[in-house]
Amino acid sequence: MKPLAARTGRISTSQTVAIDAKYKRLKAEGKDVLSLGAGEPDLDTPPHAKQAAIKSIEAGHTKYSAVTGLPALKDAVSSKFARENGLAYSSTDIIISSGAKHAVFNALLALVQEGDEVIIPSPCWVTYPELVRFLGGVPVLIPTPMESGFKATAMQLEHAVTPKTKLVILNSPGNPTGAVYSEAELKTLAQVIVKHDLYCLSDEIYEHIVYAGARHVSIASLSPDIFARTITVNGMSKAFAMTGWRIGYTGAPPALAAAIGAIQSHGTHHPANASQFAAAAALLEDQGFPTELRKHLDECRTLTLERLAAIPGLEVFPPLGAFYAFFNVQAYLGKSHAGKTVGTSMELCEYLLDTQLLATVPGSAFGLEGFMRISFANALDTLGLALDRLAAGLAALR
Ligand SMILES: Cc1ncc(COP(=O)(O)O)c(C=O)c1O
Repeated sequence: MKPLAARTGRISTSQTVAIDAKYKRLKAEGKDVLSLGAGEPDLDTPPHAKQAAIKSIEAGHTKYSAVTGLPALKDAVSSKFARENGLAYSSTDIIISSGAKHAVFNALLALVQEGDEVIIPSPCWVTYPELVRFLGGVPVLIPTPMESGFKATAMQLEHAVTPKTKLVILNSPGNPTGAVYSEAELKTLAQVIVKHDLYCLSDEIYEHIVYAGARHVSIASLSPDIFARTITVNGMSKAFAMTGWRIGYTGAPPALAAAIGAIQSHGTHHPANASQFAAAAALLEDQGFPTELRKHLDECRTLTLERLAAIPGLEVFPPLGAFYAFFNVQAYLGKSHAGKTVGTSMELCEYLLDTQLLATVPGSAFGLEGFMRISFANALDTLGLALDRLAAGLAALR
């Protein structure tokens, strides 16, 4: 048989998805398995969003609609950008896509050519470097250690820029670390981006989930120059507990928005109408949900940080955003249980799944070996049980 396209050799299945699949298989087999792996809020989608979807189906909105999204939803997103982020994207410069992941893919398809360099502070969401490589681009990872708060500085960015640099990807609040860039920090990064005439892809999917007085700032709001070169990506998955509905959205400069619209028209057309009606209701009707979710997640964060602090040897970064704890587990690597040595963060996660029936994610999946990520978006009692298992699993290593 003829070979697959060469680009398929440049992409691999996400480790986070692989672990989640194993967790789901064990669950389907009836095992009492718990997950601190998946990146989704545990609360249910707001009822008014569900009702809007049901009503739209009953009203017959079941045929093709506009490629870049229902006008009502695009208007709702445009108002949201203006109200919450200080961003003046007109509805024509907004694209509704099948999740923020799809929005990121669309933007990279529109921008990245063979050999283009894309700067990404690391550790980072695994999808960014994978997609850049898939498209023939070169991910240039800026290492951001825990001591720097897992944040890139303007000086690091300046040093990473070459004539081949096309784009910088920022993700604040960030997955997996929970780092949140301040307005002052974003200003200095924006200056470098503008100076070198780069694009900026700002993934703001965790914007509503911030703690301890941290404030989310959209980089595109900082000056007309950075606005003109920024693609702002966001979506319904995290803030409205709507992961399965698959609605993301993008605000982009007009030429880029048109290119993304053309790509989407041939790639996927538009996301399901019912999901779009649900998203519009969530954005327009009762907007209290993200606050309720943040309150719940703040309690989960407090419990998690207390419990992790009691486990010897862990170095924990207190997240200011998102719903993950990212911590150094090197003290446990090289140790053994029942004759088997746990040498890497991936082996540690496999060990926890096999012996404690607990799903977690290795730091290597985000480009930082020696660390582990857990998601604390869980009911408090389940979270407590899962953290007991984590502590027991680590304590059993010798
Ligand atoms: C940083 C980041 N961006 C985007 C996404 C994907 O969001 P969506 O469900 O809207 O595709 C995730 C999901 O984990 C994420 O962590």
